Amino acid sequence: MDGNGRWAKARHLPRLAGHRAGVEAVRRIVRAAPRLGIETLTLYAFSSENWRRPAEEVSDLMSLLRHHLLAELDELHANGARLSLIGDWRSLKPDVVERLEAAVRSTAANERFRLVVALNYGGQDELTRAVQAIAGRAAAGEIAPADISPQMIENSLDTADLQPVDLIIRTSGEQRLSNFLLWQAAYAEMWFTPVLWPDFSEATLREAAEAFAGRERRYGGR
Ligand code: IPE
Ligand code: MG
Repeated sequence: MDGNGRWAKARHLPRLAGHRAGVEAVRRIVRAAPRLGIETLTLYAFSSENWRRPAEEVSDLMSLLRHHLLAELDELHANGARLSLIGDWRSLKPDVVERLEAAVRSTAANERFRLVVALNYGGQDELTRAVQAIAGRAAAGEIAPADISPQMIENSLDTADLQPVDLIIRTSGEQRLSNFLLWQAAYAEMWFTPVLWPDFSEATLREAAEAFAGRERRYGGR
């Protein structure tokens, strides 16, 4: 969800105003996605590298998380949405972790739509944690190194219980993965748009979905 800062700058507003407008976009898109037949949507909300931003911006982003995203619980329920989290979110502040856990728990039975939020997420960090878990099992003698398979690695990632990624949308004209779903992106389609995240609308999402529908996926075959 990139482009909040540039959106604010273009309006001579503080970056926080851009992040607030970004939250509005999240609300819109979470409502629109199930209407378009999308079963799972993952939002890259905060990366493990975003800690490098000035302390004030990090704290603004965390307050938005506390006060807005979690205040959307009723909305999630109304949409039949189940919330899941990926990333090292358990190392956030204890009160945030508690609220996140409660939100995940209370939406666990919802089946219409899956909203995944990548929080304190980095693809390299996720793979590192997976390798640590697998190496731990090898060191304990539970598995031999030769038993390690792509399937085992997949099962050790934060996304173990999610469907394979179909489409990655990158907003604001950037054309890089920025540490997002590195393993999972292997055969994902990619769609780039100059639209800044706060301007991202149901129409933009539909455009992306239509572009995806026109792609031919061969997974290395022919
Ligand atoms: C939002 O956009 C990304 C988040 C960390 C929520 P940016 O803050 O990266 O916006 P730009 O790139 O400065 O426009
Ligand atoms: Mg950015």
